[in-house]
Amino acid sequence: MTLDTQDHPVALYAAETGIRRAAVIGAGSMGAGIAAQFANAGIPVELLDIAGEENRNGPAEAGIARQIKTCGFMGEAGPALVRAGNVEDHLDRLADCDWIVEAIVERLDLKRALYHKIEQVRRPGAIVSSNTSTIPHAELVGGLPECFTRDFVITHFFNPPRVMQLFELVTTPETDPAITARVRAAAQAVLGKTVVDCRDTPGFIANRIGCFWMAAAAIEAVRRGLTVEEADAVHGAFGVPRTGVFGLFDLVGIDLVPQVWASLLAALPPSDRLHRFNLPADDTMTALIAAGRFGRKSGAGFYRKGDAGLEALDLVTREYRALQPVNPASLPAGGRDAGAMLAAEGRLGDYARAVFANVLCYAAENGAEIAGDVEAIDIAMALGYGWRQGPFALADRVGASRTAEVVQAVLGEVPTLVGRAREEGGFYRDGLALSVAGGRIAAPVVARPGLSDAKSTAPVIATEGASLWDMGDGVGCFEVHTKMNALHPTVFDALEKTLNAAPNRFRALVIGNDDPRAFSVGADLTFILGMTRTGDFAALETYIRRGQELYLGLKYANLPVVAAMHGYALGGGCEFALHADSIVAHAELNAGLPEVNVGLIPGWGGCTQLALRNLALGLDADGAARRTFAAIHAARPSTSAEEARAMGILRPGDRHVMARSLLLSAAKAKAIALAEAGYAPPERARIARPGPATGDQLIAGLAGTVSEADIAIARALAAVVCGESADTIDEAAMMAEERAALLALARTETTAARMEHMLKTGKPLKN
Ligand code: NAI
Repeated sequence: MTLDTQDHPVALYAAETGIRRAAVIGAGSMGAGIAAQFANAGIPVELLDIAGEENRNGPAEAGIARQIKTCGFMGEAGPALVRAGNVEDHLDRLADCDWIVEAIVERLDLKRALYHKIEQVRRPGAIVSSNTSTIPHAELVGGLPECFTRDFVITHFFNPPRVMQLFELVTTPETDPAITARVRAAAQAVLGKTVVDCRDTPGFIANRIGCFWMAAAAIEAVRRGLTVEEADAVHGAFGVPRTGVFGLFDLVGIDLVPQVWASLLAALPPSDRLHRFNLPADDTMTALIAAGRFGRKSGAGFYRKGDAGLEALDLVTREYRALQPVNPASLPAGGRDAGAMLAAEGRLGDYARAVFANVLCYAAENGAEIAGDVEAIDIAMALGYGWRQGPFALADRVGASRTAEVVQAVLGEVPTLVGRAREEGGFYRDGLALSVAGGRIAAPVVARPGLSDAKSTAPVIATEGASLWDMGDGVGCFEVHTKMNALHPTVFDALEKTLNAAPNRFRALVIGNDDPRAFSVGADLTFILGMTRTGDFAALETYIRRGQELYLGLKYANLPVVAAMHGYALGGGCEFALHADSIVAHAELNAGLPEVNVGLIPGWGGCTQLALRNLALGLDADGAARRTFAAIHAARPSTSAEEARAMGILRPGDRHVMARSLLLSAAKAKAIALAEAGYAPPERARIARPGPATGDQLIAGLAGTVSEADIAIARALAAVVCGESADTIDEAAMMAEERAALLALARTETTAARMEHMLKTGKPLKN
């Protein structure tokens, strides 16, 4: 797979999977969000809804407008790729589409009627899929022609479609295997999702287990006399997101209870454990719904904003009262450890044990029916409900014997699968997962992280902060592995060794890692603050100078370097990537140079390299300086790769990919392509600067809008970016100016205060 043959990397994957144009029918919260995600991937998409009365395309247009407002699009180009239409006038547009996603209201009759119409117009072999959350595959397509059934699958996205990773795929033995393969490949490579195969059972995997958990967690809390705050705090120990369970009801809408839980109950046999937690019949739920207290959408649910602050519902009196936050210190192990919470005495421990045992038991009892293996369930819960771990992985963390003990104590029995895990020493062992049928199988659901193969052999170079790995095919990978991948001196030690060794050992280098959150958050702020507080500015200068020298060494090294950017790539982390020959970025990229927020300006070449990028776009010295100044002064990281491109961080030739799991392999492919094209290091760069008049104008434009400290920082930035006179300066000389300006700012009290505040609160100080 080469990345150079096409302009848009995602379009390349789209071509490989045969998805060049898509359609989504139903422009509600899901349909319009799915359409936006196709557009984010560079794929033109037809979005059809019912015909409006005044404006026939009004409903679809409203869906697009909502996605713009709620950030469903990753950048400004997306909306233009979505064409609004309606199912009365524009069904013929489906004839050109390779994948037609149905996301209309959850009504079988309407969906089936629509499929008959789709079948009249679609091309043979075009994929048709439904986003249904509850209707079985068999019911959706029963009676439709075989050629339709073969091309039809259920593709269950989660809300919001841009953000949620989980993609549940339901196929049947009748499904054409080629269709299954295309959907699977496109969902991953084009839409960036993680595909989990599900059986055709009610609620599929995540909602089946998730709805059970929500019902059990809510009902057990009432039964055991917990407050909503207590219940929500207990779940924190199990790696559930901060909303807990009652917060989640408020988020999704309590009015969904009769619909979602009732339909699930109706579809499941009386023996199903969910019937023991009959949520639609629960008095608290019924009372809230009768009072129109649906949660956040109606301003009140289990929580609400009262006149005097946040309030919570008293589960006994059903009146609101002032919030009674649970102090984490009052919980075992600070409320962070599942094992400690399960060992706790009293109401909270009883509650934790009851919910844990019931949920694990439910997953174990139904695993074989709903999923192929335990890992599918764990991944679905992690990606669909944001749990740190799914139920089986969590049980392993607690310990297989202890888990079985808790389950026995709560339920008076141990399900077969939980018993097997006790005998085998866990649900996972040695890279193998216990299958739902009981034996051990490889855990094949998700693509393994990019560096796992490289890590099967010893690193070529390693320090405490970073390692150089052999990725195979003559490519090395420089991996930073400090906390949030901050650039501690030990990272520079490894980089120095890498620059010495890599050109002899490899033909190309990738900078990247498997960390879920950060490429690198940049300089080690604690380290910098330590030096400024002790007045050791010589050490600070050494740290900055060393970074500059290494980054320039990287830029002019005798082998191509590709940065695989993802997550947070801030400050010095962003500057690291700016010195690479090429960037391959994950579409969800928070990159930027926010040094101003801590009272500094970029000092590891950020000003210089961004100016060079802007000049390379064809801007003159004045235009390039203004654009560079604006991007750095705004101190606002991108919210996507597309935005990073608009900020000048990604160059026109840099690529981005939708799937995080494909990032390192795409970066490696790019590195190989550069090496094979006969790589030679770039010419030493020179930067044209417009002189101080531009800087004066930029500063004058800020007057009255920002603080004096901000003006001083802006002046330092403008001086570097615009120059003391109109000149053309050598790259290293401009970087020396960056360094001097940074060091001068670091000596000020306002900068020290900003750094201290950022370290303490994670937020910028406006002084
Ligand atoms: P929604 O109510 O927000 O939107 C449905 C849209 O379909 C509306 O704009 C409506 O005008 C349109 N529509 C209704 N009948 C139509 C027809 N015959 N032809 C064209 N358009 C028609 O619903 P939402 O939440 O977007 O759900 C859509 C589907 O996705 C449902 O099947 C739902 O079960 C499923 N789903 C919903 C999730 C959620 O969190 N909301 C999550 C996953 C799946």
